[in-house]
Amino acid sequence: MPNPESLIPNLMRSIRVKSYAKINWTLDVLFKREDGYHEIRTIYQTVSLHDRLRLIETTDILEISCDDQRVPVGDTNLAHKAARLLRDATGVKSGARIEIEKRIPVAAGLGGGSSNAAATLLGLQRLWRVELPEREMFRLAAKLGSDVPFFLIGGTALGIGRGEEVYPVEETESENLLLVNPGFGVETPAAYARLSRLTLKESARIIPFTLFAAKAIRELPLAASNDLEETVSAAHPEIAEVKRELLSYGARRALMSGSGATVLGVFDNSQASKRAQSKMRRAGYWSVRARAINRQQYWNTIFDRAEPRAGSK
Ligand code: C5P
Repeated sequence: MPNPESLIPNLMRSIRVKSYAKINWTLDVLFKREDGYHEIRTIYQTVSLHDRLRLIETTDILEISCDDQRVPVGDTNLAHKAARLLRDATGVKSGARIEIEKRIPVAAGLGGGSSNAAATLLGLQRLWRVELPEREMFRLAAKLGSDVPFFLIGGTALGIGRGEEVYPVEETESENLLLVNPGFGVETPAAYARLSRLTLKESARIIPFTLFAAKAIRELPLAASNDLEETVSAAHPEIAEVKRELLSYGARRALMSGSGATVLGVFDNSQASKRAQSKMRRAGYWSVRARAINRQQYWNTIFDRAEPRAGSK
């Protein structure tokens, strides 16, 4: 049967994709592996904060533009790499212009670059009308970065290995999160390199962790923890300061997200998170309220709509 889209070849010349941020409810670093990566156990969660991508088909060139000067727009950009990998894997001849509207802070532990890469893979599949088998998409995503495969699932998911092997788990709800960024970036390799204490020493936690992941997932927001936090905040005391402030403004739990420097506060209700947000903003911090996005919400909302024509802004 012909693909209906192939009968209307000029219908979809550009596409918009939402590129959600992530947090880590847990991040246990077990040991350093022979390939230089660290073996981790993490529970990822997509949250409502997102970048917007617009992908426009071109005859052959691949190009990126971004409204945030800190984002590289050349071929080192992860979205650019994603487009190249997809083109090589599918043999497509078309190119794309990728416009990124940045809202997720850069090098912030919120997976912004990884999310942009995954959103590009998903969006370009549609734009170029190609489809790779799921297993191949996950392989390309893992090549792009340890966090990228998670964004091919969304919602609440367990990540093992270097974080690239992901499994959907029961969803965690969390409506009143506050994300606070102290205004500097942390490079992921540096965060891992500073680690001196590894969870492996407490290897008893490894098995209970998987049980925990399966049984007590709903309680995660109040039991959240991050093995990278201690060492990264030793190098950047502002992180510990933001955490203290969030707790003093009523957060039930506060912790660093991923490799930092964003700190995440879990609040009981929207009044409390709003109050804390205005205090953090008054203190000069970037601060955004967010909520957990489950898998269904993720897949229902990442593609805004198809546009009939390219070129018009
Ligand atoms: O996979 P990704 O490109 O995001 O990783 C960036 C760097 O972070 C790696 O080169 C490595 O230094 C560090 N890393 C690690 N263990 C992980 C994930 C990342 O040591 N599980």
